[in-house]
Amino acid sequence: DVQGWLDSSNRNRGWVLKSDNETTNKTARLFSSKEGTTPPSLSITNSYVPLPIPNVIPGTMGVDGWRIYNITLMTGTTEFTAGVNTVTSGYNGSYLGPVLILTRTEKITINVTNSLTEESTTHWHGLHVPGNMDGGPHQTIPAGTTWNAYFTVDNRAGTNWYHPHKKGLTGRHVYAGLAGLLYVNDTESDALAIPKTYGVDDVPLIIQDREFAVDGSFEYATAANEGLGDTFLINGAINPTFVAPAQMVRFRMLNGSNHRIYNFGFSDNRTFQQIASDNGFLTAGVPLTRVVLSPGERAEIVVDFSGDAMGTALQMMSYNSEVSYSNRDTYDNTDFSLFNIFVGAATSSPVTTLPGTLTTITRFTADQAINQASPRFFDMDSVSTINGVSMDINRIDQVVRLNDIEIWEVKNSHGTAHPFHIHDDSFQILSRSTGDVPANEMGWKDTVLVGAGETVLLIKHFEDFADADSPYMFHCHILEHEDAGMMGQFIVVDDFLQPINSQSNIAGQVVTYTHVITNPSTANSDTFTITVASSQNWTVTIDPPSPITIAAGQTQILTISVTIPASETVGTIDTTVITANSTNIELMYQTISDTTTVIVDTYLPTIQKDS
Ligand code: C2O
Ligand code: CU
Ligand code: CU
Repeated sequence: DVQGWLDSSNRNRGWVLKSDNETTNKTARLFSSKEGTTPPSLSITNSYVPLPIPNVIPGTMGVDGWRIYNITLMTGTTEFTAGVNTVTSGYNGSYLGPVLILTRTEKITINVTNSLTEESTTHWHGLHVPGNMDGGPHQTIPAGTTWNAYFTVDNRAGTNWYHPHKKGLTGRHVYAGLAGLLYVNDTESDALAIPKTYGVDDVPLIIQDREFAVDGSFEYATAANEGLGDTFLINGAINPTFVAPAQMVRFRMLNGSNHRIYNFGFSDNRTFQQIASDNGFLTAGVPLTRVVLSPGERAEIVVDFSGDAMGTALQMMSYNSEVSYSNRDTYDNTDFSLFNIFVGAATSSPVTTLPGTLTTITRFTADQAINQASPRFFDMDSVSTINGVSMDINRIDQVVRLNDIEIWEVKNSHGTAHPFHIHDDSFQILSRSTGDVPANEMGWKDTVLVGAGETVLLIKHFEDFADADSPYMFHCHILEHEDAGMMGQFIVVDDFLQPINSQSNIAGQVVTYTHVITNPSTANSDTFTITVASSQNWTVTIDPPSPITIAAGQTQILTISVTIPASETVGTIDTTVITANSTNIELMYQTISDTTTVIVDTYLPTIQKDS
C-alpha cells in the first residue's frame, strides 16, 4: 500500500521492489526502520515501443483536376532495437512508406522517384489499372529517374498496397522495407458508420517477419526457401504496443511478409468481425476468432474493446500450431505473439455497433463464364514454375479476351501452400476442392491461398483495359517463389479471337484459336459460312465445319486450327502471340533477345450469313 504509506509519514517503512518486469529479476527489500522524515518518492516508468502509425499522403490537387502523389524509393537506416542501426529501404523514409489515400473516380498521378542505386518498379497491388500503369516488371524505373503513373481510381473502397515488382528482385526490395498501403475511399465507405479515425480506431497493421544478423543487418537470401524470419515487425516495430480505446477498433491488416503465412487471433480468443477482404467490404461482418492471411492478402477486422476494463492487456497472436500450410521453420507450427494491446479510455464519440449491411456483392455464377466447360488451368507445380514453366518476360502465357468472364482453375500439386495472385482486377472464389468457401472469402479477392493438393476455382471479369503490349502478371505471392520464376503473364486483347495456348517453337505444330460467333437475330436461327484465309497458305481447319447453324441469339464457339509446316523458318521462334481486330487476325512472334513483334501470318476470317 504505497499510497497509504506515503500519506502517513510516521509509518514510512515498507517494501521497495525492483523488477525489470513482472516475471523476472525481481528484487525486493524490506526497510524495517524509518530512513528519514521525508517520505521517499516512488516513480514508476513503464517503457514500451508504441505501435508506429505511418504518415498519410492525401495528395495535392493539381490545376488540371489530377491529384498528385509523390513517393521516393530510398535507402536509410532504421533502429529496430535501441542502438542498433540496420540498413533498410523505404518510400519517403527509411522503412515502409506512407499510406496513400485515394478516392474512387479521381484522376491521379503518382510520381515514383527511384533514389536507390539500382533499377526497381512500384506496383499497385489490388488496383484495377491499365497494364502500362500497373508497375509490374515491365514498368522499370532506372536508378535516379522518376516514373509517372497516372490513371483514374476505379476500385471499390478497400485496403490495397504498393511494393516493388522488379523481375528477380522483388523479394529483396520488399524485404529491405519497400512497401506501403493504398487506401481507397468511395461514396459507400464515406457513408458507412464504421471506425475511421486514422491511427485511433482505424489502425493499419503491416505484419512482416525479418531475420537479423549478429551485426544488426537484415539477413536475406534469395533462394526459394528463404525469406522467413524469426523477428516480427508490426508497422516496422518489434513487439510494439497499441493503446486501444475502449470501443470498436478497426485494424486494416496486410500480410506484408515475403514468405510467412499467419493464423491471426487474440490471446484471449475473443471474437472479432472481419468486415473486408482484399479488395473491399464483405456484405456483413463475419464473426471469427482466427483469420489466415498469406503474403499479399489483406483483411479488415473490427475488435470490440468496449467491455474491457482500462488497462486490460492482450496480444495479437499467430496461432500457427493450428494450421499446416508449410513447415519451413518453428514459427510455421508454433504460436507466437505479434504485438501488445492495452485498453485505454474510449474516445468521445465511439462507434458502438456495426451496420448490419456493409455493401452488396453480386456473386458471379459459373455459367456466366465463357469457359465453364474447360476453365483456364494453372498448376502451381513447383516453387519456380506454374504449368511447368518459369517466368519469361518475353513470353505471353495467356491471352484473355476483353469483357469475358472466365473461370481460372488454380491447382496446387506441390507439397506446400502457395498464395496465387492475379493483377488487373479482383476475382471471386467459386469453389475450393477442400470444402465450402468460408464466409470471409465470399467477397472481392486478388490473392488466394491454395493448400497443398487443393484446387480453387476463381471467377473474374476482364473489363476495361485491353493492351496486347502491356501484360499483367499472375504469380505466387511468396516473393522468393515469384523471383525464382513462379509467375506468368497474360494480356487482355480487344478481340473476338484468342489462342487456346501460346506456344514456343511452332514449326510443325498446330496452333489453335477460339472464335466466338453470336447470331444477332433474336427471332430466328441462321446459318453462317465461315472461311479463313491464310496469307501463308497454311492449312486452316474450322471446327465445327462451316456452314454452321446458330439458334436465335445464341453463341457458337469455333475452334480454328492452323497447321504450321515443319519446314517453316518460324520454327525458330520463341513465342507466339495472336492479336486481332474485327477484320484480321495476326499470328506474331517475339524473340527472346528482341521484343520486336514480327507478323508471320495474317488470317482474314469471313463470316457470311446465308439467307
Ligand atoms: Cu503484390 Cu504481382 O504483386
Ligand atoms: Cu499485384
Ligand atoms: Cu509459392
